[in-house]
Amino acid sequence: MYRSKMKASDAWHLGLQVMPVHHCHPHPSKGPVWIIMLVCLISVFLICGYIYPSPSFSPCYLFSSRGCNPLADWIPAISTREFTDDEIASQVVIREILSSPVVQSENPRIAFMFLTPGTLPFEKLWDKFFDGHEGKFSVYVHASREKPVHHSKYFIDREIRSDKVIWGQISMIDAEKRLLANALKDPDNQHFVLLSDSCVPLHNFDYVYNYLIYTNVSFIDSFMDPGPHGNGRYSHRMLPEVSKKDFRKGAQWFTMKRQHALIVIADNLYYSKFQNYCRPGMDGLNCYADEHYLPTFFHMNDPGGIANWSVTHVDWSERKWHPKSYTARDVSLELLRNITSIDETVHVTSDEMHEVQIKPCLWNGVKQPCYLFARKFLPDTLEILMRTFSNYTNI
Ligand SMILES: *[C@@H]1O[C@H](CO)[C@@H](O)[C@H](O)[C@H]1NC(C)=O
Ligand SMILES: *[C@@H]1O[C@H](CO)[C@@H](O)[C@H](O)[C@H]1NC(C)=O
Ligand SMILES: *[C@@H]1O[C@H](CO)[C@@H](O)[C@H](O)[C@H]1NC(C)=O
Ligand SMILES: *[C@@H]1O[C@H](CO)[C@@H](O)[C@H](O)[C@H]1NC(C)=O
Repeated sequence: MYRSKMKASDAWHLGLQVMPVHHCHPHPSKGPVWIIMLVCLISVFLICGYIYPSPSFSPCYLFSSRGCNPLADWIPAISTREFTDDEIASQVVIREILSSPVVQSENPRIAFMFLTPGTLPFEKLWDKFFDGHEGKFSVYVHASREKPVHHSKYFIDREIRSDKVIWGQISMIDAEKRLLANALKDPDNQHFVLLSDSCVPLHNFDYVYNYLIYTNVSFIDSFMDPGPHGNGRYSHRMLPEVSKKDFRKGAQWFTMKRQHALIVIADNLYYSKFQNYCRPGMDGLNCYADEHYLPTFFHMNDPGGIANWSVTHVDWSERKWHPKSYTARDVSLELLRNITSIDETVHVTSDEMHEVQIKPCLWNGVKQPCYLFARKFLPDTLEILMRTFSNYTNI
């Protein structure tokens, strides 16, 4: 699928360069004049679309046969919209941050940011994971309901000032931004991981560290779902900045590079669109900012800079409202090995087509296992996870 897209875009560029040359200066003797006129007109049309594309115009829209309507996507691309002051300001800041060299750190660290209501049930497991790797990581905890009780030295005094978090509401994004801002204060933090209280590590520390420090993208899940749980949640009140064709969906649990963390902190324009118009109960729609804001924001501002999948595994195969929660009875070495061996991502659209989009997990261009972490594990799995940690993390 990815390959055929690349070919389509090559064909598109080729067509643009070749067509006007061949058809706009024809020999008068060849063919009826009206055909020449028509071809010239089409060429001008194509050139205009090429010279004045919309900011997110992607050549594949024109040629991909599935999932998009070529004309509907293409026509707005030609009639350029005048950007608002806020959009121009935002584009300048984002472009500047993305193009500036990363602050080089002598000892790059990974910031592990835990979003939890209170005590983390897997602190002991994380303690095992972090043990012996001091100096290569930092821990931040946003406890939104009650002060956690700690079972690991790595978590003591790592709570940041927090606020209430309501599921599905913008307060979730506010907590994520609060974690990012606090973690950004340390210039050694080069990569930022968001984790929940039900997340567990799937690999040993060195594997996770190398996977994230040496990647050239952020692992942010982002895909186009034309169904009711995707574009069906889009509100036209997000116009003109966020159009329906740019609206994306993805899991909340991300990892991101420092530059990406900075642009999230710098953004107010897109944030306020989602704050105001992507909420549960908005105009009769149930939109959840934590599933749409970052996937859409990165699709619009740095589509090539994200992997489009999350490194946190979750099992939606039961097709229920919530993903599968693993109990102690479900957990076995076989289950964990199954999860760690997955090297393709699967996205399923929520429309009646239930289109399954499968893509290889490419790490710096090479196919690799997709997942570093997994959820949702219930607290009673702690014992078996502790007991088998060294077995499943050293395959
Ligand atoms: C992620 O998807 C976007 C389209 O939204 C695409 O441009 C980009 O190349 C994809 N990223 C990777 C690493 O394939
Ligand atoms: C692991 O994967 C194999 C092959 O797909 C499957 O048959 C088996 O049921 C899986 N085991 C668990 C515990 O998920
Ligand atoms: C990341 O590396 C791969 C393989 O070298 C390359 O194809 C891709 O364009 C790179 N992406 C970015 C955002 O630098
Ligand atoms: C896990 O590893 C230990 C030590 O290498 C070994 O003794 C034990 O049998 C392994 N457990 C399983 C379930 O494979």
